[in-house]
Amino acid sequence: MLPPDPDDREDGALQPSRTNSVVPAEAPAAVPIAAPERAPIPTVAEAVRAAALRLEAGGIADPMAEARRILAVAAGWRPIDIVTNSRAGLPEAAVERLECVVAERLRRVPLTRIVGIREFYGRTFALSPDTLDPRPETETLVETVLDIVRRSGFDGRSCRILDVGTGSGCILISLLAEMPAATGTGIDISDGAIAAAQENAARLGVAPRAGFEAADMRHFDRGSFDLIVSNPPYIPTGDIAGLDPEVRCHDPIAALDGGADGLDFYRVLASYSKRLEPGGWLAVEVGAGQAPPVLDILTAGGRVAERLTVPDLAGHIRVVAVRPQPSSEAS
Ligand SMILES: C[S@@+](CC[C@H](N)C(=O)[O-])C[C@H]1O[C@@H](n2cnc3c(N)ncnc32)[C@H](O)[C@@H]1O
Repeated sequence: MLPPDPDDREDGALQPSRTNSVVPAEAPAAVPIAAPERAPIPTVAEAVRAAALRLEAGGIADPMAEARRILAVAAGWRPIDIVTNSRAGLPEAAVERLECVVAERLRRVPLTRIVGIREFYGRTFALSPDTLDPRPETETLVETVLDIVRRSGFDGRSCRILDVGTGSGCILISLLAEMPAATGTGIDISDGAIAAAQENAARLGVAPRAGFEAADMRHFDRGSFDLIVSNPPYIPTGDIAGLDPEVRCHDPIAALDGGADGLDFYRVLASYSKRLEPGGWLAVEVGAGQAPPVLDILTAGGRVAERLTVPDLAGHIRVVAVRPQPSSEAS
């Protein structure tokens, strides 16, 4: 159920608009042509509440928060403007747009897909139908790699990064933006994702240090790197039909499907250790419960000098990172 809104009447009905109610002092003697009836313009608070009720009825999670986000999009406002303008009338230009966005959400199109952008690690990334919508959990991978970089002294030198399955480029571009001396390569099997990543790199000012290449990670066999990062597809094939429609119908299947047990791409990534420079790290995002098998897969091929598992903000292990033992360190 939605929480009560202070702007609602006690009986739960929405109040009539305060902005449009006009009571004529006396009725005109004759009205030759009746003016068309216009729906009263609601206040911002009323519009949020009405949208939230529709979203709730449509099975959208957290409908009040979603309604506020939608209204901010419709009005072209920052989220805080919803609060400061809550008693004002909804701008007329936003009324029709609000209706369109709510209708799209009721068709389970994610808001990020409707607006075509996603905030990730403090920057704005453009999405395309060929890119995964980057998730906040993936910021844990970026944060972990930056910790490793600071600890290992990679930040002061021209570190080389490989991002396997780059999608929108959000991981590689965020790292390059935070590491001014680093260079990087992003590969993806999708030409459309590569085009989106190139555009994001250009808009975010790291294009001169970023190369993107359409390639199948199962056959990519070039270069050596200080850091190899990946958020590979990791949903078990049989679980895809049960995902929310926002994911199942709007993220590319190639970005989701990790094979029968979800671990196919980690088996491929294990062989990428040989592309690491001495002292280099391989860091990957993992799905729920996948950390133990992924650690087994990544460490099966040889000695490991260091390993890390890092939880996301919800407390789930989200990142597994390993530093293979260079031959000079072997006992
Ligand atoms: C889970 S998405 C991650 C996208 C992006 N790195 C992110 O975190 O938002 C996985 C990506 O791997 C790509 N991919 C799937 N199979 C691939 C393959 N065989 N070779 C290279 N990339 C692949 C998909 O196209 C998708 O962009």
